[in-house]
Amino acid sequence: MANLNSPTGKTFVVEHLDPELEEWSSLEYFAIASECHESGAQFLLSSVPQSLELPERLQQAKSLKVETRGIEEIYANQKDRVCLLDPAASRDLSPDDGDTFDIFLFGGILGDDPPRDRTSELRKKGYQGRRLGPVQMTTDTAVRVTRIVVQDRVAVDKIPSVDHPELKINENESTEMPFRYVLGKDGQPIMPEGMVDLIKKDSEKGLSDLL
Ligand SMILES: C[S@@+](CC[C@H](N)C(=O)[O-])C[C@H]1O[C@@H](n2cnc3c(N)ncnc32)[C@H](O)[C@@H]1O
Repeated sequence: MANLNSPTGKTFVVEHLDPELEEWSSLEYFAIASECHESGAQFLLSSVPQSLELPERLQQAKSLKVETRGIEEIYANQKDRVCLLDPAASRDLSPDDGDTFDIFLFGGILGDDPPRDRTSELRKKGYQGRRLGPVQMTTDTAVRVTRIVVQDRVAVDKIPSVDHPELKINENESTEMPFRYVLGKDGQPIMPEGMVDLIKKDSEKGLSDLL
């Protein structure tokens, strides 16, 4: 069934799997909402606990629909149209999957290093799975890559990307991000607005905790 709220007919669903909403996730979700809006897709943030109050900026994001219900309840009759983006899937996502699926599902989980395979919480629901290559991505990057593949019909391995970029924290320190990122037109990894400052703040806090 086509999604009437989305001009492209595509819906990107992030199932929020954490009890809280970290600032990191909030920045990622805002970036996903903005890019889905610009590309004519719908963004659905599902399984948001009733008790969780989203930041004002996120509440007002265009093309974002927030649901307390989980994916299984929302799309009970369209299970075969849902594709789980799963780092452990045996097949990579292809542009033709844009004809097979309308709903793309992601784990709303913070990346961890080494990965703890929390996507398994969604895998056990039995959706068809596709991988986006062998390297772990942040959730917003995974949505970005999926949109480029199924909406712009570009193969995963043709999307310019960088693995594990170094981020300069200050004159003396830098940190390696344990993820794959899409490269922007400026040749830099695309990160949500405010993310670099947040990472710098967290790293400096981490360093001062050590002192
Ligand atoms: C930050 S990742 C979480 C990975 C996490 N370490 C885990 O335990 O599964 C968040 C979501 O992005 C998607 N994702 C990230 N990298 C991916 C990849 N290489 N292939 C497919 N999906 C990916 C998955 O939907 C995943 O649940």
